[in-house]
Amino acid sequence: MTHVTPFTLPRDSRLMNKDFLFGVATASFQIEGDYQHRLPNIWDTFCATPGKIADGSDGKVACDHINRWREDVQLIASLGVDVYRLSISWGRVLNQDGSINRLGMDFYIALLDALRVRNIKVFVTLYHWDLPQHLEDNGGWLNRDTAHAFAHYSRVVAQELGNRVYAYSTLNEPFCSAYLGYEVGVHAPGHQSRSQGRTAAHHLLLAHGLAMAELRRFAPHAKAGIVLNFSPAYPHSDSAEDAYAARQAHEYHNLWYLMPLMQGRYPEIIDRLAPQERPEIQPGDMDIITAEMDYLGINYYTRNVYRAGGELGFEDVRIDNVPRTAMDWEICPDAFTELLKDLSSEFALPPIYITENGAAEEDVMQDGEVHDTMRLAYLQSHLLAVHQAIEAGVDVQGYFAWSLMDNFEWAEGYRKRFGLVYVDYLTQQRTLKSSAKAYQGLLAQRQTLGQQE
Ligand code: FCB
Repeated sequence: MTHVTPFTLPRDSRLMNKDFLFGVATASFQIEGDYQHRLPNIWDTFCATPGKIADGSDGKVACDHINRWREDVQLIASLGVDVYRLSISWGRVLNQDGSINRLGMDFYIALLDALRVRNIKVFVTLYHWDLPQHLEDNGGWLNRDTAHAFAHYSRVVAQELGNRVYAYSTLNEPFCSAYLGYEVGVHAPGHQSRSQGRTAAHHLLLAHGLAMAELRRFAPHAKAGIVLNFSPAYPHSDSAEDAYAARQAHEYHNLWYLMPLMQGRYPEIIDRLAPQERPEIQPGDMDIITAEMDYLGINYYTRNVYRAGGELGFEDVRIDNVPRTAMDWEICPDAFTELLKDLSSEFALPPIYITENGAAEEDVMQDGEVHDTMRLAYLQSHLLAVHQAIEAGVDVQGYFAWSLMDNFEWAEGYRKRFGLVYVDYLTQQRTLKSSAKAYQGLLAQRQTLGQQE
């Protein structure tokens, strides 16, 4: 067996403190399978539509986690992590009439209890994109009622799971649900309309706010917050035009979600939209959306580069000669540090958890091992980027690698692998990649340091 060097951080880094939480993350549709015991959702429909998923696959089996969860809990524990981030499938725990699907709810209860026995804290995401299809048939996130349906779902989950959960996240990446799902259509449900994208975003934020109230009431001891993704926007040149374009892109893709949550208003770029493209904001909406949060989850993978142009004043530029992952995303850890510093200075943020960070690589299994060199370098440099942000005064309290194991990567299907653990989809065998061992090594070192103190 090849020896794997653990990830390293300075001994006195805050990340080496036992109260800094290290974890791995997954999401229901990407790993669970067992579609027979839940309601159909928008991703089932999207997968069944020819041409939408790169390899023509679907989530019917995925990692077969529903049948293999005991083994997966052991796998999670074997890494030495403090915390596991999972998402609940709405249509697995609720029936179409809003009543509880006992089988589904009991699955999550058993899972949480098994994690608790192993002293692993749990971050539960309520919505990681798998909207029940019957709600989409009524307009999905274009219909305000979906926000209320989400609040009901959140209440039931909080009542059932309550304090078994360390932290709830209402939504994962509303940017993806709204923009990718309703505006450009590369994700489910596949609509292509700017006004729909903006409307969906508003209703998602409203859903978040309504759910926060339910979580406060029915799970008062759990932390509650949201997970946003950020791809910081950089100008292509030194020109004032490109700098302005980058700011516009930042407002449209990043601040569109953060500003309403923190400041109760949409960024200025809303004024560039035609009136019929703006979301309908009803009186009181912003008060609901600005509900105080215990933490902000930040997902970071890459940065984007923009120049002046396009209908909204910015357009994407693909720059050459930079390192990229198998997703074709630029590897840029410095932009991660800078993002954390900038957001913390611009907004009065609650404590931050890095709820996702990771890389896709063309993994090859050889002699029972997967030596994922690029992912190793990616994770090492991004852990250091978090360390640097903390040194600069940013309050980051945890870090989750995406992902525990290879899984259904949405429109890319199973060809893009993000796991620390390799999944052989024919046998469902799980194998620790070198990155998993390096993570294990880091957590073991931290443990030893803690004991020496
Ligand atoms: C994020 C998603 C997650 C995963 C990673 C690669 O946008 O939250 O489910 O697909 O990207």
